[in-house]
Amino acid sequence: MRVLVTGGAGYIGSHACQRLLRDGHTVVALDSLYRGHREPMDLLAAQFPERFSFVHADIGDAQAVRSAVDGADLDTVMHFGAVAYVGESVEDPIWYYRNNIGSAVTMLGALDQARDGRGVDRIIFSSSCATYGDPPEGMIPVPETCPQHPTSPYGRTKLHFEHILLDYAEMRARAGRPLALTMLRYFNVAGCDRSGLLGEDHTPETHLIPVAIQAARGKRPGMSIFGTDYPTPDGTCVRDYVHVEDLIDAHVRAAERVPPGAREAFNVGIGEGYSVRQILDSVRRVTGRDFEVTESGRRAGDAIALYNDPSKIRRELGWSPEVTDIDEVVSTAWSWFEKHPDGYKS
Ligand code: UFG
Repeated sequence: MRVLVTGGAGYIGSHACQRLLRDGHTVVALDSLYRGHREPMDLLAAQFPERFSFVHADIGDAQAVRSAVDGADLDTVMHFGAVAYVGESVEDPIWYYRNNIGSAVTMLGALDQARDGRGVDRIIFSSSCATYGDPPEGMIPVPETCPQHPTSPYGRTKLHFEHILLDYAEMRARAGRPLALTMLRYFNVAGCDRSGLLGEDHTPETHLIPVAIQAARGKRPGMSIFGTDYPTPDGTCVRDYVHVEDLIDAHVRAAERVPPGAREAFNVGIGEGYSVRQILDSVRRVTGRDFEVTESGRRAGDAIALYNDPSKIRRELGWSPEVTDIDEVVSTAWSWFEKHPDGYKS
């Protein structure tokens, strides 16, 4: 395959580039570097000089998207480029819609016109379990058929873009240019590449596992649990933590197996839920350190409990996670932080 990876310099996008390159594919990563990092791009370029290139541009730059695709005759797009914090999206919804919808639609127009109007053959979209919001009773674990009622602007941007892609795929089918469309609804992505090259380096960092690791390392004075009065076994939110390399494996399988004309959505999560308190216990076990934890109020936009029913992805893509032990997920993240206490800059 010849793949455009949008958001390629981000946490998940960079892991996708690495896996595709290891598998022998050609990759062009496109990233505004607003939140992504140049360092992983340089590392991958050094390892795979023949098959990897990096374009410093925003997904809303139609010219850059089109010339990236045309320049390397790319046939596949893995679209990760987005802003992706639930809490932040509640604070600044317009910015979320501008990036995740406005710029993404511009990108889609450019992709459609590329390759002399043939467009790309495959699109794999990074959607989210946040599109489900709080599933109704009987829908946890969450199947793909669960009604989608997002509880945050972030989740709504992901759901709207799913609909936009479905409309686009319908047009392509009618025009006799069938597109292979896959929407992967991620649960909580965690951990780092097990070879130790790539990591998770967000500014600001808000994700539970890296925040807890920073607290364990003394990089922050402590941390808070956002909400202890949820209707869950220990009162804290429950999530499904899928290892980033397993997540990327789902993308590769989708690219290989979803045929032209098909429009598929798959959930990607291991099928087991862990509460915030259970994650903090895992971080204490893995790091051997204790840290200050306070209990505070609920964070706006948070769903109560979300974990996956992995039946469909297992059945149709033959996917199953290699990393199922939460301590192993946490320990891959911990190893990277040990080597890079200040992220990629260190
Ligand atoms: N949490 C805390 N304290 C912290 C950070 C997080 O208690 O300092 C809690 C959150 O309230 C939540 C859980 O830990 O209950 C997980 O929070 P994260 O911020 O790590 O992840 P989210 O569940 O908010 O978000 C993730 C992805 C999104 C995706 C969403 C779906 O980052 O892209 O899951 O729920 F949309």
